[in-house]
Amino acid sequence: MIKRVAIIGGTGVYGINSNEIILNIKTIYGQVEVNIIKLNNDKEIVFLPRHGKGHSTPPHLINYRANMMALKELSVTHIYSTCAVGSLNENYDIGDIVIINDFLDFTKNRINTFFDGDDGVKHTDMSDPYCSYLRNKVMKFSSDYDINIKGNAVYACTEGPRFETSAEIKMYGFMGADVVGMTNVPEVVLAKELGMCYSAIGIITNWCTGFKKGEDIVLHEIASSIEKNKIKLEKMFIEILSG
Ligand code: HPA
Repeated sequence: MIKRVAIIGGTGVYGINSNEIILNIKTIYGQVEVNIIKLNNDKEIVFLPRHGKGHSTPPHLINYRANMMALKELSVTHIYSTCAVGSLNENYDIGDIVIINDFLDFTKNRINTFFDGDDGVKHTDMSDPYCSYLRNKVMKFSSDYDINIKGNAVYACTEGPRFETSAEIKMYGFMGADVVGMTNVPEVVLAKELGMCYSAIGIITNWCTGFKKGEDIVLHEIASSIEKNKIKLEKMFIEILSG
């Protein structure tokens, strides 16, 4: 049952223009600022800007455990997140939207679990890391919001903050990745450990390094493809989550 819902805004998605209250949540992993958005029907949505205010925290320094624990402490059960991604799949062009359905983990220096052995040894099932319930809802509602979901995508998560080399992108392609980003791991893993249903929507902002000859990663294109999609996505999430 959906009890309380959250939206995690990735690069370029920092807030929702509406009635909001700022809350500081203290967790044992650190403090997190979230916005509580009051909807017209008295329901509430928790909004968490992943990189903090004004995109101040780079992907490798985000306190993922504090973020996810803060949502758990607010009794969140379901989460939609957005993430900017590069594409290494010919079918997924700049400005397209994809639903992430699996990941490859190439992160190196992140704390990626709550299960440190204090409570016995625990292993989390990753056969279906992303929430199929929320995924199906997006598929169903997207056309009403003029959002063209291009398909499912396997997400390779890199440590960042640098972009990848051409050789790395070639390798990720051989391994089955469709898109590359820097934040879904450990976010999705920690959500699963806490029993929250987590779904990630990828906004394609660029072709990955070396994937297309002569196409460098251009930061202003990253911003414009997010801008083009974020309002529509926010509206759709709110409609789905408040239903
Ligand atoms: N690589 C890694 N992360 C990204 C990219 C990319 O090309 N684009 C947006 N986030």
